[in-house]
Amino acid sequence: MTDLSSQQIRGQFLDFFEKKGHKIVPSFSLIPLDPSVLLTSAGMQQFVLYLEGKKDPLKDFGTWYLTSCQKCFRTADINEVGDDIHHTFFEMLGNWSIGEDSNKGYFKEEAIDLALEFLVDTLELDKDKFWITVFKGGNNIPKDEESIKIWQEKGIPKERIKEFGMEDNFWGPIGEVGVCGPCSEIHYDRGKEFGCQKPDCRPNCKKCNRFIEIWNLVFMEYNKNAKCQMPNAKCYNYTLLPQRNVDTGMGIERLTAVLQNKPSGYETDLFWPIIKNIQKISSKKYKEEKRIFRILADHLRGSVFLIGDGILPSNLDRGYILRRILRRTIRYAKVLNLPENWYVSSIKKLSEIYGSTYFELRTKETEIITVFQNEEEKFGRALDKGLSQFDKLLKRKRKSGKRKIISGLEGFSLYSSFSVPIDLIQELAKERGFEIDIKGFEKALKEHQKISRAGAEKKFGGLGLEKVKDKRQKVKVIKLHTATHLLQQALRDVLGDQVKQMGSDINEERLRFDFSYDKKLTPEQIKKVEEIVNQKIKENLPVKKNEMDYQQALKSGALAFFKERYPEKVTVYFIGDSLEKSYSKEICAGHHINRTGELGQFKIVKEESSGAGVRRIKATLES
Ligand code: SER
Repeated sequence: MTDLSSQQIRGQFLDFFEKKGHKIVPSFSLIPLDPSVLLTSAGMQQFVLYLEGKKDPLKDFGTWYLTSCQKCFRTADINEVGDDIHHTFFEMLGNWSIGEDSNKGYFKEEAIDLALEFLVDTLELDKDKFWITVFKGGNNIPKDEESIKIWQEKGIPKERIKEFGMEDNFWGPIGEVGVCGPCSEIHYDRGKEFGCQKPDCRPNCKKCNRFIEIWNLVFMEYNKNAKCQMPNAKCYNYTLLPQRNVDTGMGIERLTAVLQNKPSGYETDLFWPIIKNIQKISSKKYKEEKRIFRILADHLRGSVFLIGDGILPSNLDRGYILRRILRRTIRYAKVLNLPENWYVSSIKKLSEIYGSTYFELRTKETEIITVFQNEEEKFGRALDKGLSQFDKLLKRKRKSGKRKIISGLEGFSLYSSFSVPIDLIQELAKERGFEIDIKGFEKALKEHQKISRAGAEKKFGGLGLEKVKDKRQKVKVIKLHTATHLLQQALRDVLGDQVKQMGSDINEERLRFDFSYDKKLTPEQIKKVEEIVNQKIKENLPVKKNEMDYQQALKSGALAFFKERYPEKVTVYFIGDSLEKSYSKEICAGHHINRTGELGQFKIVKEESSGAGVRRIKATLES
């Protein structure tokens, strides 16, 4: 086994595949292209259109063979973080062959050959420790006999090839429907000392992590389709894609742990400097509080990468994912008695570890620290109060001798008074031997939303119109509201999709719009935004609305205001002839004019900062 740093492993992987004719494609952002997916969770995500056969890789990359080291983020296993193998953020090494036929591309045999050559010849891993899993068939998709045969031909004995079904050996799709396929995984046997000692212990053992999955080879030749269009109906079928592809993924943390002979990624050079750093300022030791140290290091790294890609903490979608892990970090920092600003030196360490691969960690270091500081300020004190309230509640309950259940209303009161995310309350309760009535909590939350919705109708939707008595002034406010929608889209066109509404205020004089963006706009950018809005005004586009389900609205690409919690049915206002082809779509409860031509001349009068990572624009309409 070679002695390599994680940096060298990343480099060797990309070099190896480049030498085999693959084009190295840089990691895509954690914010994916597909608006229906919140975060990038696999290396193949940026290649979906090529895998579907809708785009030609030869035209865009000059080849059918691609390789990358992709930043990924998965929330599904967040509760497992702290064990040896799960992370929220991780890097995935991968190679792809797109569209195999007799003249180009490769499929199962070559993919297996390449994987073995890299692991055994380049990294000098012991092939006798490899166990293989293959697809045993399911959902009318046949068993992968071909892979079983190939692995045996390549010297893996039958006893070390295990068959599993849809759950373990069929990969994808990322969303509900899309490209997918049977997969074959290489697991590395870390030895009995890591195992549960059961005689039938094997890959995918539910009791231990003796066998660590290092590489997943997906033979992507299927598409999962929704068979019927009935709302909420869950019937699907699988059809063959027009082409066969290979999609592979290998988590760098696991591979590094194996190569550096460590129990988990946390003890490798990817994490250890951070853990050592935290240990230095903590009253506790890693070996005493392993899980907590690991969660802190994982979540700190994950938050830094999310912020690095332009995500800010909020109460919606990816902003909420970031907020959840940030708040969990703040909470665990208290358990380890870490001093204020404990994260600053670790964020700096992270830029040292990753900065030469992911420049954003260096260039945005100050901004990342500010986001942590702001969130800590907002949440830290509330958490102290919340925790003390929580402990009082539990004390009362213990005294009363009743069942150890926290009612939905009690949970909601903690959540709404102290902004403690409900899963954190759940976790705290569990640690103290209590349960929380989640259904009751959801009911209380819905009730609350109904009430605040009615208030919001007045505040946002009503635009304070009741205060504006004069009809002419009323019309002006409505026009400025429609202009705000155009402005948000124009800002996204010019500055990118990280632009999201953070606040809005309209009076009869001007609109004021706050949005997430971390730099001062240049005069050229401001001019461009103005030009786009005025162009859309000139096109005299219709402003229309559709009622739909909230999820459906998000899927359609409609923008949502992050501070608002929405009911199940929402109104989407779109500007253009149809929802699909519209220039702007937003979930909105307000009033709008009928056509953009009525707006007049749009002018930005001020652009300024409005807090960390937030800009503010004031603009007017002149007739
Ligand atoms: N898409 C597969 C995975 O994420 C292989 O890259 O595991």
